[in-house]
Amino acid sequence: MTISADNSNKERVYIFDTTLRDGEQSPGATMTLEEKLQVAELLDEMGVDIIEAGFPIASVGDFEAVTAVAKQVKNSTIAGLARAIPADIDRAGEAVRHARRGRIHTFVSTSPIHLAHQMRKTGDEVIEIIQKTVTQARNLIDDVEWSAMDATRTPIEYLMRCVETAIKAGATTINLPDTVGYAVPEEYTAMFRTIIEKVPGADKVIFSVHCHDDLGMAVANSLAGVVGGARQVECTINGLGERAGNAALEEVVMALRTRGDAMPYYTNVETTHLSRASRIVSAASNFPVQYNKAIVGKNAFAHESGIHQDGMLKNAETYEIMTPESVGIKATTLVMGKHSGRAAFKDKLKELGYELGDNAFQEAFVRFKDLADRKKHIYDADIIALVDDEVGSI
Ligand code: KIV
Ligand code: ZN
Repeated sequence: MTISADNSNKERVYIFDTTLRDGEQSPGATMTLEEKLQVAELLDEMGVDIIEAGFPIASVGDFEAVTAVAKQVKNSTIAGLARAIPADIDRAGEAVRHARRGRIHTFVSTSPIHLAHQMRKTGDEVIEIIQKTVTQARNLIDDVEWSAMDATRTPIEYLMRCVETAIKAGATTINLPDTVGYAVPEEYTAMFRTIIEKVPGADKVIFSVHCHDDLGMAVANSLAGVVGGARQVECTINGLGERAGNAALEEVVMALRTRGDAMPYYTNVETTHLSRASRIVSAASNFPVQYNKAIVGKNAFAHESGIHQDGMLKNAETYEIMTPESVGIKATTLVMGKHSGRAAFKDKLKELGYELGDNAFQEAFVRFKDLADRKKHIYDADIIALVDDEVGSI
C-alpha cells in the first residue's frame, strides 16, 4: 500500500484545529456548549496538538466555552483568540488559564488594504501595537501565538519588521495566514522561506500556516507553507470556516500520511477517528458534508464504474490510494448502478446469497442494466426482486 507509516526521517508538523473558532464563524454553524465540549474531547482523543476553542471576548457564551474546554481537555493545548487590544488579551488569558497547557493567540492586520480601511493606522503604529500586545500576552502566559492577518497581501519587507517585533516581544508561534485565500502555493512557500531565513530569532519560534479556501487552494497552500518551513498547520474538520472555509484537517493529515514519500513530515493525529470527527462536526454545526468531499465524503470510498469495480475486486490498490479503514470507514462500497459491470454484479449476488448458472446470471444482468437505466439508486431489495422474478420465471 502507498500509505507510509514509518515516521523516522520525517519532521513533526503540529496540528492546530480551529473548528471551534474559525469553523464556528461559518454563517449558521454556531454550536452549543455541549457540542463544543464533545468536539473538543474528540479532537483531544485524536491527538490534535492545539485546539482553538473560541474567541473569549466575542460573547459570554464564547468565554464560557473556552473556559469549559480548557478545564475539560487533558492533553491538547487550548488556545483563545484575542485581537491586539488589551481587554481581549486579558479575557483570553482568563479563559485559558484553566488549561493544563494554555495559549493566547493574538492577531493584527498587516496588509496595506487592512491598515488603510479597517485599522486606519500607519505601519509604524501597528508595529507599536504588536510590541505592546505581544508583551502583554507574554506577561500572562508562556505560550503566545501572534498572527499577521492578511499576511499574504503584505509587502514582505514590512511583514519581516512585524514578525521580528513579535518575536522580540516574546511570541513563541508566528502564524502567517492567507486570510482571504489569495495565495498560490509557490508564493506561500517563498514567503515562509524568506522570513525564516532573514528575520532574526526566526529559528527560536514555530511558524504556522492558516489558509482559507476562496480559490480552492487552502490545503495545497498549507502544505506549500510546510515545505517553506512552517511546522504548524491551522485547519478545521470538514474545512468548516469563514466564507469558503479553512484548510480541511482530514485532507492535510491524510496527504501527509499518504504522501510521506514526497513530503517528509508527519502529524500525531490518529487517522481512524477522522470519519467520526467529520460526522460529529457536521451534526453539531448543521453543515452537511458534500458527497464527493475528499477523505470523509459519502463517495470518497465508493466505486460505481464497471472498470473500477472490476479492478477493486482484484486488488484495492488499483483505485484506492488509502484504505477506508485508515480513516475509520468500515469498507469500500461498490455502488450498483448503470456503470457497474458483470464482476461487481456477480459479487453483489454472492453477498446476497445467490449463485446463478450462466444463463440465469446473463438474464439477471440484462434486467439489472435495464433497471439501472431507469432508476437512480439500486438497492439490495431491487436486486433481490429482479433475481427472484428471474428465478421464478424459469
Ligand atoms: O484568517 C485569519 O487571518 C484568521 C486570523 C484570526 C488568524 O482567522
Ligand atoms: Zn481564518
